[in-house]
This record gives sequence, C-alpha cells and structure tokens, in this order.
Amino acid sequence: MKGIIFTEFMDLVEDKFGLETLNELLDAAGDDGVYTTVGSYDHKKLVQLIVQLSKKTGIPAEDLQRVFGQSVFKNLHATLPKSSSLDNCQTTFQFVRLVEDYIHIEVKKLYQEANPPKFDFISETETAMEFDYRSARCMAHVCLGLLEGCAAHFGESIAVEMKNHDDLGKDVRFKIALVE
Ligand code: HEM
Repeated sequence: MKGIIFTEFMDLVEDKFGLETLNELLDAAGDDGVYTTVGSYDHKKLVQLIVQLSKKTGIPAEDLQRVFGQSVFKNLHATLPKSSSLDNCQTTFQFVRLVEDYIHIEVKKLYQEANPPKFDFISETETAMEFDYRSARCMAHVCLGLLEGCAAHFGESIAVEMKNHDDLGKDVRFKIALVE
C-alpha cells in the first residue's frame, strides 16, 4: 500500500492524540515509523497500527478507520493532477465514478504494486447510488470515511448503509443516499 496512506495516518494520530501516543503506538506495533509518501508498504502494518490505536484509546477500530477516511480525502484530492473530467466533476456520485474509472486506474499505472479497491456499480439515480466494494484489504470503513469526506468536499450530505457479503469485509454492498 502506498506510503502516502501511512504518512497521512501518522499525521492524523499525531494531530488528534499527540506525538507521545504516536510513538507509543509505533513501539507497541513493533514499527519503526519510517515511511515515505512514495514508498510501498505491507497494508497489514497499517491494520496493526489501527488495532493498536484502538486498544490504546478504547475507540473501535472501525470508527478509527472511518475518521481516517474522512480526514485523508482532502489530502488525496490535493494530490490529483488537473484534468478536465475532474474540473467538471461537481457531485459526490460523479466523483465516485471517477475514482473507479480514472483515479484508481491511474494509481495502478503509476505504482504497479498498488492495489486499490474495485467498485462494481449496481444502480444510480439522482439521489441514490449502490455499488459493491471489493478489496484485498478489508478497509470498508476507510471507504465509508472517504465517501463522507468526498461529500463534505462537494457540500453534500449523505447517509450510507453497508452490508457485508462475507465475514472478512472484502466484499461489501454500499448504499448511498443524498440527504437534504
Ligand atoms: C470517494 C473517494 C475515494 C474512495 C471511496 C476511495 C477508496 C479507497 C479505499 C477504501 C482504499 C483503501 C484500500 C482498500 O480498501 O482496498 C483506497 C486506497 C487508495 N486510494 Fe482511493 N478512494 C477515493 C479517492 C482517492 C483519491 C482522490 C486518490 C488520489 C490519488 C486515491 C488514491 C488511492 C491510493 C494511492 C490508495 C492506496 C492503494 C494501494 O497502495 O494499494 N483515492 N481508496
């Protein structure tokens, strides 16, 4: 998994819980904390850090994943190069389509070892979108947070329902409704 995801996570922990907590966390996870945005690392290390942070703070891992997704959206978005399809994109649903059809594809072209999730779209109306999240990583709650961060970016409000299709959370149905 790309280092930017790790560096963003560590920035968030430092921001919300302080440097001491971040250092204790890295110690507990047996992690030297040396990540660069352009490097690539085993995603299980990120899972480990989230599990340790959950133990330390008493906050459920799923909530931590969600908050991480919400906060990382802005910075991921800021890394995007200028393109006309992005400039023309004005809604959460349009952006989610672009993530699947363009952004994650570019990520894979740029970094062969990257493995972003796949979205299989099922239905879409003006106010509702349904897709299946398929991932090797089981980070559906990061996905939830990213969707919420995306909606906030476009000044929209969404309600999201998630339904696991397997025990591990590699295949999850997302139903997003736009709310007034
Ligand atoms: C609505 C917006 C987005 C959603 C829902 C989304 C979803 C996700 C999720 C859930 C992951 C974690 C891996 C997994 O679950 O399998 C991920 C990874 C990633 N995403 Fe996105 N993403 C979004 C926008 C973006 C944007 C704007 C970028 C900008 C470049 C981006 C680049 C990446 C990268 C680099 C990874 C790591 C892939 C790897 O190293 O294996 N994503 N995305």
